[in-house]
Amino acid sequence: MSSRVDGPLKVTGRAEYGADHTFPGLVHGYVVLSTIAHGEIDTMDVTAAKGAPGVIGVYTPFDPLELRTPTTPFMGETWVPLQDKEVTYYGQPIGFVVAETYEQARDAAMLVEVSYLTRPARTSLQEGLASAEDAPESRGVPSALAVLAEGVESIEDALAESPVVVEATYTTAPQHHAAMEPHSAVAVWGPEGLTVHSGNQGSNLQAAELAMALGAEPSEVHAVNPFVGGAFGGKGRTSTPAFLAAAAARVLGRPVKAVLSREQVFTATAGRAATVQKIALGAEHDGTLNALRHDSWCSTPMDRSFVEPTSHGTSREWYATRNLAISQKMVPLNIPPTTFMRAPGEAPGSFALESAIDELAVTLGMDPIELRQRNNSTAPPGKDLQWSSKHLDECFRIGAARFGWAERAPQGRTDGDWLVGMGTATAMFPALRFPATVGITLLPDDTAVVATSGADPGTGLLTVLSLVGGESLDIPSDRVLPRLGDSALPPGGMSGGSTATASTGTAIMVAAASAIDELLALASAPGAPFDGMDVSYADGRVLAGDRTMSFGELLRALDRPSLSVTGSSAPGEELTKHSFSSFGAQFCEVRVHKWTREIRVSRMLGVFDAGRIINPVAARSQILGGMIWGVSAALHEGLEVEENGRLANGDLASYLIPVNADVPEVDVHFVEYPDTLHNSVGAKGLGEIGIVGMAAAVANAVHNATGIRVRHIPILIEDLL
Ligand code: MOS
Repeated sequence: MSSRVDGPLKVTGRAEYGADHTFPGLVHGYVVLSTIAHGEIDTMDVTAAKGAPGVIGVYTPFDPLELRTPTTPFMGETWVPLQDKEVTYYGQPIGFVVAETYEQARDAAMLVEVSYLTRPARTSLQEGLASAEDAPESRGVPSALAVLAEGVESIEDALAESPVVVEATYTTAPQHHAAMEPHSAVAVWGPEGLTVHSGNQGSNLQAAELAMALGAEPSEVHAVNPFVGGAFGGKGRTSTPAFLAAAAARVLGRPVKAVLSREQVFTATAGRAATVQKIALGAEHDGTLNALRHDSWCSTPMDRSFVEPTSHGTSREWYATRNLAISQKMVPLNIPPTTFMRAPGEAPGSFALESAIDELAVTLGMDPIELRQRNNSTAPPGKDLQWSSKHLDECFRIGAARFGWAERAPQGRTDGDWLVGMGTATAMFPALRFPATVGITLLPDDTAVVATSGADPGTGLLTVLSLVGGESLDIPSDRVLPRLGDSALPPGGMSGGSTATASTGTAIMVAAASAIDELLALASAPGAPFDGMDVSYADGRVLAGDRTMSFGELLRALDRPSLSVTGSSAPGEELTKHSFSSFGAQFCEVRVHKWTREIRVSRMLGVFDAGRIINPVAARSQILGGMIWGVSAALHEGLEVEENGRLANGDLASYLIPVNADVPEVDVHFVEYPDTLHNSVGAKGLGEIGIVGMAAAVANAVHNATGIRVRHIPILIEDLL
C-alpha cells in the first residue's frame, strides 16, 4: 500500500496550482472569445474597454501581442492566439484585456465591440461526410491500410466469402475534458527571463513551446507546474492563457495572471472529436474472423491539427484476422479544436469495434468472451513482431469468474420492474515510452532527491518517483524526495500516452545504478574510508568485509555536500523485437427500468494486464477514473453544437457527467506480469486503458437487458423507448 506523497498537500489546500501564485504588481488578463463560427473579424472597437476602470492593455488581432507558432517533435504545431483575423469556430480567443483586477478585466472585455464578415459555417459531422479528406498518417499507420491473405484481392471479396457477416455504423459524440483546474497561467518576467506557473503535462515541453512562441532563448523560459489539477490530454500543449499571459507580462513589465472561466475552457482549449465508424466483420460459423473492415470519420478543426485515430487505435491491432482493411478520414468543421483526450482513438474506436464483436456473437449464438478468445492474436495482424506479453485470456477468465458471467442469460433477466443485462468488452492500449532523463542526488542525511521535469497531472507519477527511486537505491521510499514539474530539472517525458511510469522509471533505474557506481568509486578511492577495498552496496550502505557505512555517513566522512548523477532512457532495440500493449477485460451490469427506461449501471469490473503495478492504490484509482469516464461516455456526455456553432451545453451546468449516484461499486483487478521485454521497470502503462472498451461494455449490457442495440453514444432514455 502506498499513499500519494503529495496527497496531504492536496487535501489540505497547501498544494499551489498555477493560478494560486501571486506577485507584487500582479495584473489580470481576461480572454475575449468570438461569437461567430466562421468568418473574418472586420473591426474591433476597443475604445470603451481601454477607458474602463483599471484597464492597462487591450490586445486584438489589430493590435496583437507578438507570438510565433511553435512546432515540437511528435506533436507538430500548436496554435497561438491573436495572430490573424480569421475566425474558424465559435468561442475562439480573439482578444485579451488586462486590468488591475480580474473583475475590471472581465467587465472591460464585455465592452469590446466586434464586427465580423461572416461566412457560412459547417458544424455537423454528418453533413460534412461527403467532403471528408484522408487523415494524415497516425502512429506510423497511413490513412488507409489493408492486410490481405494470399490470393485475396480485396476486403470486399473476403467479406463476400465469409459465411457470417455483421455490418453496422456507430457514432460517438464530441466530448470535453473539463479538468478540475481550468487552464490558467501566472507569468513573471525577471532579470533572468520568464517564469510561467501553469498546469501542463510536461514542463520542459511547455517551456520549449513558450520559448518558440516568444522568440526567446530556451534558457530564458522557466515553466513550473508541480501540481496539475487534471489534464487527460487537454494540457498536453501550452494553453492560450499561458501564451497570452507570458506575452503580455513582457510588454507590460508586470506579472500577469490569466484564468479561463469554466465556460471558456469548453471552447478556448480542445476536446474530443465526434466520430462515425463503419465496421464490417466476416466470420466462419465457429467465430473465426475472416475479415475486418473499419472505416472511420472524425470531426477535426479547420486547421486539421488533430485526428481521432479510431480505426488505427483498435482494429489495426486487436484481433487475429486473415484480412484487415482500415481507413481514417477527417471532416474539417467550424468547431472548437480537438486534441488528445484519454485514449484518443481507442476510447471511441473500442465502442464501435467491441459493439460489433458483440453483434457478431449474438448473430453466431456464441458467448461473447468465447468469440473474443477464439480470435486472440499473438501479434498484430500483418506484423511479425509478437506481443512481448499478453495475458488477456487470463483477464477474461478471472473476470468472468469474479463477475458471475456464467449467470448471464442470452436475453438478460428480469428483477421486478428492472431488466438486467451483462456486457463485456476487450480493452487495449499500446505500451509506449518516451525518452526521459532523471537526476539523482544522494545527500549526507541519507536521503536522495529523484528529479525530472515532467508533470504529475494527478496520475501519481510523483509517488512513482519515490517508490522506484527507493527500490533502485535500496532505501525506504520515505527517504526519497521526489521532484517534478519544473523545466529546470533534467528533461523528463510528458505525462501522456500512458508512458510516464515506464519512461521515468527506466531512467531512474539507470540513474540509480550510476549513483551507486560513483558512490562505490568514491568509497574505495585512495584516502577514502574503504581505500582499496572490494566494496559492494546494499540497503543504502557501502559494505566491505565487516565494515559498513550508509551513503550519508560516507558523504559526511568525505565532507561532500552531495553526489549527483543523471540517467537517461529511450525506446530502442526492443521495438525491433516485439509488439507492446496493455490489455484488459471490461465487465458491466446494467439495470433498465421496464417502464421509464432509466438506465442504471449496477456493477462494473475491469481486469487488466498492464505489466508490473508500481503503486496498487494509485493504479486502481487511475483505472477507476477511466472506467467511470467510460460510463460517462456511454450514458452522459456529449457536446451539442448549435447550428451557429455555439456549444449549447458548454459548461458544467449543462454538460452531463456522472455523479456518485450514477456509479456503483467498481471492482478493479490486475494480473501482474512484469514486462521487462518492454522496459526494465516492467510496467506497461495504465493511464488510459481504463476508459477503453467501457462504453461498449455498457452498450452490450443494455442490449443484453433490453434486446435493443444502440449504435451511438451517449445512449439516452429515448433510445430505449
Ligand atoms: Mo493522454 S490523451 O495521452 O494525455
